[in-house]
Amino acid sequence: MAKSTIVTRTTLAFVIALATSAFPLAINARDDVPTDISSLENPVTLEDTEIRYYTRQFKGKCARCHGPDGKGGSEPVEPPLVPPADLTDAAYMTTRTDGQLFFQIMQGGGERCAMPAFGPESDHAWSEEKVWHMVAYVRRFAAGGGTP
Ligand code: HEC
Repeated sequence: MAKSTIVTRTTLAFVIALATSAFPLAINARDDVPTDISSLENPVTLEDTEIRYYTRQFKGKCARCHGPDGKGGSEPVEPPLVPPADLTDAAYMTTRTDGQLFFQIMQGGGERCAMPAFGPESDHAWSEEKVWHMVAYVRRFAAGGGTP
């Protein structure tokens, strides 16, 4: 085998190894949201009178990972698991659709994330309507620039 072929193969193997090791560092746990769900828009609006209830839900069931302020960072995670994203980061959150947030809360984190599922089929058995309300609540972290 010519020396240059060996060098090329070694370089290729190195590039592939680098690309594969970078994969678990992707910030979103779920890149498998079906397009008909990711394109959904939130059908509900969160009334002012409902905020207190969803704040309690978030503090009780989500804050141990996402932090009470949505900034995350409360639990250390080892790759290939991904840490919770900063939900107050408006630039990042505009890249996430309502449908993607809905799917994640419904189905949980999948293989690369310890987030449990909250939808009707899960142990938490939240209705779809309740999940949509939580999507609206989560949006407030970035929209209000801080704690809802
Ligand atoms: C065991 C830890 C854990 C718990 C509990 C948890 N999450 Fe998560 N959540 C994560 C991780 C890790 C991710 C993946 C990184 C990410 O996308 O933020 C995630 C992702 C999300 C996303 C998607 C954000 C995005 O980047 O697209 C939403 C929305 C979300 N969580 C909402 C909630 C809500 C609401 C609750 C409570 C009802 C909750 N989570 C409970 C760990 C958790």
